[in-house]
Amino acid sequence: MRTPQSVRPRVRSATLILRAALACGTLFLVPICSAQETRQQQDLDNRVRQFLGRSRYRWRDMNVSESDGRVLYDLVVQNNYTRALEIGTSTGHSAIWIAWALSKTGGKLVTIEISERRHNQALENFAEAGLSEFIDARLADAHDLVPRLEGPFDFIFVDADKDWYARYFQLLLPKLEVGGCFTAHNVSGRRIWGIREFLEALENTPNLETEIVRSSRAGISVSCKKSPS
Ligand SMILES: C[S@@+](CC[C@H](N)C(=O)[O-])C[C@H]1O[C@@H](n2cnc3c(N)ncnc32)[C@H](O)[C@@H]1O
Repeated sequence: MRTPQSVRPRVRSATLILRAALACGTLFLVPICSAQETRQQQDLDNRVRQFLGRSRYRWRDMNVSESDGRVLYDLVVQNNYTRALEIGTSTGHSAIWIAWALSKTGGKLVTIEISERRHNQALENFAEAGLSEFIDARLADAHDLVPRLEGPFDFIFVDADKDWYARYFQLLLPKLEVGGCFTAHNVSGRRIWGIREFLEALENTPNLETEIVRSSRAGISVSCKKSPS
């Protein structure tokens, strides 16, 4: 239906007002929103820092060191990873570093633990650090759950049963996005059962580029997927 001549100017001025309002939204509302988001992120950062400070000497369940936690944090933030998986939550130290990084990239972590006591303690720690919304913590045997996970993931951290590292790698490589990385803890212990087989599997995979983080005493391997196969 055509608009009658007499109504057209009013329609045009309404359109102009709407356009101006939209422009104001762009000019004023967005900065207000991002200022709010920045404040929320700052509050979260303070909460996580305070939690990590309080619990610095309380990690007793085979947890990663603080400096290894920072390595994981940096990897996620610098590469803007958003779909993370961890095998071996324990009481949650590494998960807290990964999830803190994901709070900045807008991502989420799935983390798996077989021990109910450690899983429950991890849940308490995640809540205390203010990071629960970034973590999907599963109480499960990773041997059963990993084959059923859909993926894709762009960041994987394995820190559980070493004799299964090569198997986890084989199961998860097809679920790792190109550009994503598969990381594993304690790879300096070549004499630990399973580590040598795992490192050989990394070496024999053509579409991977692997580095060992030397600043880590335990050794963290970081293998980035360069192409689909
Ligand atoms: C070295 S600790 C993980 C430390 C943790 N990443 C941290 O920094 O806090 C290894 C954990 O893997 C868990 N684990 C071992 N085998 C597992 C399996 N098959 N499925 C799930 N978790 C497993 C152990 O119970 C243990 O809590």
